[in-house]
Amino acid sequence: MILAGNRDRNKIQSRIQTRDKTGIRPAVFMVALMMPVLLAGCRNNASIQTETESADGLISVAFSEVGAESDWRVANSESMRTTFTTENGYEFYFEDAKGKQENQITTLRSYILQGVDYIVLDPVIETGWDEVLEEAKNAGIPVIVVDRMIDVEDETLYAAWVGSDFQKEGETAVEWLESYLEEQGRSDEEIRILHVMGTLGATSQIGRTVGLENGTAAHESWEIIAQVQGEYTQAKTYEVVSEFLEETQDIDVIYCENDNSALGAIQALEEAGISCGTDGDVIIISFDATAVGLAACMEGSINLDVECNPLHGPLVEEIIEQLEAGGTPSKLSYVEETYFTPDMLTAEFIASRGY
Ligand code: AHR
Repeated sequence: MILAGNRDRNKIQSRIQTRDKTGIRPAVFMVALMMPVLLAGCRNNASIQTETESADGLISVAFSEVGAESDWRVANSESMRTTFTTENGYEFYFEDAKGKQENQITTLRSYILQGVDYIVLDPVIETGWDEVLEEAKNAGIPVIVVDRMIDVEDETLYAAWVGSDFQKEGETAVEWLESYLEEQGRSDEEIRILHVMGTLGATSQIGRTVGLENGTAAHESWEIIAQVQGEYTQAKTYEVVSEFLEETQDIDVIYCENDNSALGAIQALEEAGISCGTDGDVIIISFDATAVGLAACMEGSINLDVECNPLHGPLVEEIIEQLEAGGTPSKLSYVEETYFTPDMLTAEFIASRGY
């Protein structure tokens, strides 16, 4: 529950101190803009107090989501929505940034002005957060980062991060590929890998890319023949892989940085008359293990789907509970993950996962 007294005092104090790079005080500017509203509400102090405090004792949690580019992302948003319900004691705010960091910064500033109790940020990319998070800190609003990480000078700008070990996911894929090729007696064969990257600068892209690049460097016969940008979507990946297939069809592996990309790559291969998956010519590696990815894996078009767990809602709630109790949550918490191959999957299992 929200520490109305101290926290609100800190918020007011910090808003007065905050300046942007132009030297204009955003708080002063906003107060000027909001003056008619404030005057209307200021007829007596009691009415302001009532509006500032959470009317019904709810904790306000404001989430800035990357977008809706993938099935994983939809499951992630849903996990937050179903956790932070009114019945559970929360007032939930949600904004979809449509893949743009500038939208997230605007959203964060509006959450700060609203004086929400907690901000939850899933950052599009890692860099560029120092200034706005400084503003949140000055306003006394704890920021919890989920999924992708942030690269900030001052680690106190966020209370905690929870998400996946993306480099480990990439390493899992590399280890699997190594043993799969060995089983097939192809260990010494030249292996040509097409790498479809996710959103550049996102932790998930960086980690999965490092995993693949290190793995490739460790195998003399492996080569990354090209790195194309699929932006985590089926449409973009279909487009870039189709274009690439016009240059060459000599590909052994397509390493797709998420399920929707894998579906786009499969679509491009099918159209070009190239087979893929367990009975085909091109090995498909994917990440996420959402229902669509696992279904494609079960029927054999995807050889390997490395899990990336999107169910962050309950984990963020645990962090909020710790903060509410005056505790200090772990700065970094990694979620447990595994991987799937066709022989491990059934329709019942996929349905039981719920995303
Ligand atoms: O950051 C997590 C990644 O972002 C997921 O793999 C992908 O599907 C999403 O869009």
